[in-house]
Amino acid sequence: MAEVFITHSAEETIRWGRELAARLKPPVLVLLSGELGTGKTTLAKGIVSGLGAAREEEVTSPTFTLVHVYGREPKVYHADLYRVESLADYESLGLEDVFAASAIVIIEWPKPCPLPTTWPQVRIQLEHVGGEIRRITTLPPSDR
Ligand SMILES: Nc1ncnc2c1ncn2[C@@H]1O[C@H](COP(=O)(O)OP(=O)(O)O)[C@@H](O)[C@H]1O
Ligand SMILES: [Mg+2]
Repeated sequence: MAEVFITHSAEETIRWGRELAARLKPPVLVLLSGELGTGKTTLAKGIVSGLGAAREEEVTSPTFTLVHVYGREPKVYHADLYRVESLADYESLGLEDVFAASAIVIIEWPKPCPLPTTWPQVRIQLEHVGGEIRRITTLPPSDR
């Protein structure tokens, strides 16, 4: 069943991310979908800081670098596939290495290409509602 949370500010989204972090057990894949500016990176700040892998302000958008890695045990990977357009781009990311050892992997803009893993998934959809209001929906894992 989908779980819905309405957030009224970036701070509230970060707090929700910290609460989610407390429930994540590696290995796990967290997929963040939603239009630009809905708060995917903001939510990742909450998740990564909640896991104790980095401070909130150290978590920045991996739009250009594509993959950031934080922490050690477990490692937390944060990727953004927005700019990944071709299968060649996708393969050059080296995602196999990301999934080689138990970790927490957060992916913004998951693409239709299947990810090279069978890890459990948490799928999250973010939507603009108006102003600073966002709807965060936790979806059941998709069939793989
Ligand atoms: N309720 C909210 N939740 C998350 N971000 C919000 C919210 N209200 C306003 N914002 C602002 O919207 C922007 C979201 O940007 P970002 O997290 O980078 O989005 P995305 O990664 O989805 O493109 C930030 O500037 C943030 O401060
Ligand atoms: Mg982003």
